[in-house]
Amino acid sequence: MKHVFSLLLACLALCVSLPAMAERAKILVIPKGVRVKYWQWVEQGAKRAGHDRDVEIIFRGPWASDDFVAQFGILKAGIEEGVDAIVIAPNHTSYSAELLEQAVQKGIKVVLIDSDMEFEDRVSLVASDNHFAGKQAAEHLISLMGGKGTALLLHYAKDNASTMAREKGFLDAASERGSCLTVVEAEEAGVSAGTAYYATMEAFVSNPYISGIFSPGESTTIGALRALRDMHLNGTVKLVGFDFTREIHEALVEGSLNGTVLQSPYQIGYLGVMAACDALEGKPVEKRIVTKTTVVVDPENMFREVEALSGQ
Ligand code: BDR
Repeated sequence: MKHVFSLLLACLALCVSLPAMAERAKILVIPKGVRVKYWQWVEQGAKRAGHDRDVEIIFRGPWASDDFVAQFGILKAGIEEGVDAIVIAPNHTSYSAELLEQAVQKGIKVVLIDSDMEFEDRVSLVASDNHFAGKQAAEHLISLMGGKGTALLLHYAKDNASTMAREKGFLDAASERGSCLTVVEAEEAGVSAGTAYYATMEAFVSNPYISGIFSPGESTTIGALRALRDMHLNGTVKLVGFDFTREIHEALVEGSLNGTVLQSPYQIGYLGVMAACDALEGKPVEKRIVTKTTVVVDPENMFREVEALSGQ
């Protein structure tokens, strides 16, 4: 009799523990590229949310932030692996749209982070207000230039929605200044510091009187910084950029960089995964979650701003 009782207890324990042993949801998080610091912060936030919601986070991205073919391949493999949700920062405005539609038809929840794209069945878009951030940067640069002169706009990459929105915000703010400000544009400064360095040097060949530069991303900011230093124009030509790395902070301290727009990459990763988890649990999710940005000028308060934006 005692053995029967023990057997019953064991079966009861097994039944009770089965749900707890149920496989954890798998969420594939795909950045634009893993080459720059920004996406490491996104990864940290995504993994923190995975821990908080007890889901498995798979973080896989292309090396370069414009390799939309590689991003397509990672997305396709994830769908075939049968992930439950996808949190993606699209590095092209349309290339993976059809594949994402197929994912949704298979019941996979899709959350966009950092950048928009031509895909409507998203659970949510978690990103900065990029147009507003571009205007924020422009206002600061234009004030540093005294409202006049020639400003260089470095275009990051076409079909990259987040940076295109910032560039548009910059141009809209500049056009409000009328004829006092001339804007020259370096098309396709690219997604690496090296290509941005080259684009900056090239721009000065045909426009030697540039007195201000706006850079819409981490890599273009670093590329422009290095070019100004090599031309011995750092500190003379005003530079306002985006994002945050040690090199960007040091440039702000030494006065080679005159301001940078900080985003909330940690929160973008965290809130992106939280939105996917809520969707998997059938909870309502806001279609647009705007994360904070701020223009940092004083290096003294940069780390406080980074902390504040991460913890918002
Ligand atoms: C940069 O690319 C953008 O999509 C991000 O917001 C960040 O500014 C990182 O390479």
